Amino acid sequence: MQQVKLGIIGGGTVGSGVYDALQRNGALVASRLGVNVVVERVAVRDLKKVRAAKIPKTLLTTDWREVVFDPQVQLVAELIGGTTIAREAILAALKLGKPVITANKALLSAHGEELFAAAKKYGTNLYYEASVAGGIPIIKALREGFVGNRINALYGIVNGTCNYILTRMKLEGADFGAVLADAQRLGYAETPPDLDIDGHDAAHKTGILASLAHGFWINPKKIHVEGIRHISALDIKFAGELGYTIKLLGTVKKLEGNCRVQVSVYPTLVPNSHVLASVNGVFNAVFVRGDVVGDSLFYGRGAGKDATASAVLSDIGDAVLDLKSGAKNRLPAFVPHECSGAVAPIEEVTSQYFVRLNVVDKPGVLARIATIFGESNIGISSVIQPEGHEGKSVPLIFMMHYATNGAAMKALAKISKLPSVKGRPVMIRVESFE
Ligand SMILES: NC(=O)c1ccc[n+]([C@@H]2O[C@H](COP(=O)([O-])OP(=O)(O)OC[C@H]3O[C@@H](n4cnc5c(N)ncnc54)[C@H](OP(=O)(O)O)[C@@H]3O)[C@@H](O)[C@H]2O)c1
Repeated sequence: MQQVKLGIIGGGTVGSGVYDALQRNGALVASRLGVNVVVERVAVRDLKKVRAAKIPKTLLTTDWREVVFDPQVQLVAELIGGTTIAREAILAALKLGKPVITANKALLSAHGEELFAAAKKYGTNLYYEASVAGGIPIIKALREGFVGNRINALYGIVNGTCNYILTRMKLEGADFGAVLADAQRLGYAETPPDLDIDGHDAAHKTGILASLAHGFWINPKKIHVEGIRHISALDIKFAGELGYTIKLLGTVKKLEGNCRVQVSVYPTLVPNSHVLASVNGVFNAVFVRGDVVGDSLFYGRGAGKDATASAVLSDIGDAVLDLKSGAKNRLPAFVPHECSGAVAPIEEVTSQYFVRLNVVDKPGVLARIATIFGESNIGISSVIQPEGHEGKSVPLIFMMHYATNGAAMKALAKISKLPSVKGRPVMIRVESFE
């Protein structure tokens, strides 16, 4: 049987997972592809480290160049993370015409355009299934399964740490800080946790999905990102009473007019009747609305050794078939297409809103706030004043009709200056999935 020799850069969680999965299912992969994938070299930082996978010492090196430039290595998997050495190694491999597989969303977000241009220039391919939503084959679905669709909307729960925290806050009525500390103790959140809980990891993945769906590479600086730090047990409770669950959603929506797309990450009130509201714990899900297919849902494990290895193996399969057929970039992993679009500034995007204020409990306060919303042309769909005091103030909840984010933010800035409004107003967008 034909053999393809694989070089792996990185033998950590994902690298070990890929090595193990090939040991376990290599024969199955070979019988399906008609090609035997053999691991030729593995680069790591520390040769003495005890690893989850039993990688033979003879395969190990501390120099990634010994993987990339090894003439035996036909295919390279970059699994070290980071945006410097990983970029250098990928560019070097592509320059040699070797297909590359990466799980590195941070690198693709920052340098995707350059890397895909290099793959094209050197007549090879760059695969990245593992970079978004771990084991869910969403990249392949968008590239191949939905090749005949315009993607009018896409919503993703793509950060398992945030989803785990929000799920536990909802189930236990617990505060953010307490759940985060426990998640760190249990290994579900990193220390420091900022990349996840401030929404940046979700933004890297949402940007990659948006680029693929809309055919122009999204500049990560244009993505509006809000994390979940400010979400309180009270917000989750009141949202629940109104029939919603709060999720950190990556949103990619085609706006009216040509090629303007909303690309954002923020906590969102999802109606409990919508399937995304039931995606709990560390699970990920991506909801795609294509103009031909309609609505589709992808659900699964978004991270971890085995789920991520499964995605890398899928890419290995594609790359191996390309090598076998001699068509090195049969279906390039990313091709600019359709139009040169633009990300719409968040101020111009319209949303519905949940607004929670703490106000002094006296007559006239509600009228003053309603006047500011009215002057800003923002309609109130309902007002709720739940029982209970927070010191001398009481919570006041507004559900708002569609308005631009610019108008909503301006109105809230004015409202926050009213002497009767205490503390920072909370504004969470509401998604109706219409
Ligand atoms: N973990 C997940 O669930 C997951 C899911 C999706 C995507 N990803 C992505 O997958 C990539 C790898 O993540 P990971 O969790 O596997 O990371 P990890 O556990 O920290 O492993 C990184 C590996 O790279 C090696 N390494 C680092 N710098 C190196 C260098 N300069 N030269 C050679 N080897 C080097 C490390 O060597 P030592 O072992 O000797 O330290 C380690 O084996 C990242 O881009 C990440 O974003 C991870």
